[in-house]
Amino acid sequence: MASSSVNLEEIPSESLMNELLRRMKCAPKPEKHLILIGPPGSGKGTQSPIIKDEHCLCHLATGDMLRAAVSAKTPLGIKAKESMDKGELVSDDLVVGIIDEAMKKPSCKKGFILDGFPRTVAQAQKLDEMLERQGVKIDKVLDFAIDDAVLEERISGRWIHPASGRSYHTKFAPPRVPGVDDVTGEPLIQRKDDTAAVLKSRLESFHRQTQPVINYYSKKGIVATLHAEKPLSDVTDEVRKVLS
Ligand code: AP5
Repeated sequence: MASSSVNLEEIPSESLMNELLRRMKCAPKPEKHLILIGPPGSGKGTQSPIIKDEHCLCHLATGDMLRAAVSAKTPLGIKAKESMDKGELVSDDLVVGIIDEAMKKPSCKKGFILDGFPRTVAQAQKLDEMLERQGVKIDKVLDFAIDDAVLEERISGRWIHPASGRSYHTKFAPPRVPGVDDVTGEPLIQRKDDTAAVLKSRLESFHRQTQPVINYYSKKGIVATLHAEKPLSDVTDEVRKVLS
């Protein structure tokens, strides 16, 4: 079996200290299992890193995972690319498989944020089966409610850092240096599906296939509806209230 040991001497002291402090801060936090649902551009990817840091959760974004697979040209990426380019959903089996695997990561010990999954009722039912096997329950579903009319401006001004999934916006959340990620200094890119034409098809998929997922969880009494059209920091405040 291959050894995965890390030589701690090679890791800078500052990184080690920061990781130790993070673990001390996280130790008393209760487990949380969250789902974020909303149309493209509603702010799921923007709020996720904040929730992740505050509650010590892992952030599992199926869109980010699929884009990584597409750019690495893995068999999964090759299968997913055509649907993603058109703004259609990829098959339920593909995404269920990647989520099942991703949830086993050590960073998910305190729970997870599912961002962009489940997106169909069939995915929600499969997730229920997966979680039942693990003895885990979803605590909250955050519904990023927003009018479609707001989304085109959000999507057309978005720039992302592909490695981390961090989102910026030329008007609403500009990076410190235009075109450059604040944390790593690496270049930002625009997503291939962030065009007005593809957005139309992504919104159509959302209303037809994903909206029913909100009803599915409403029946379980765990949905919190957010005013996602509000400014970024107001949405963060709403999320904090819901999760406190
Ligand atoms: P995915 O990557 O999940 O895309 P999406 O759901 O369309 O969501 P977005 O990432 O576009 O929006 P977001 O809500 O994260 O917005 P953000 O925070 O960046 O999926 C892509 C594709 O993968 C799908 O089309 C499908 O093909 C496939 N796929 C993924 N999951 C799948 C699944 N489960 N099943 C099948 N197929 C799947 O915000 C947008 C912009 O607005 C940013 O620039 C941000 O800075 C700005 N902003 C955010 N909040 C505010 C605010 N409050 N005020 C002003 N600006 C704001």
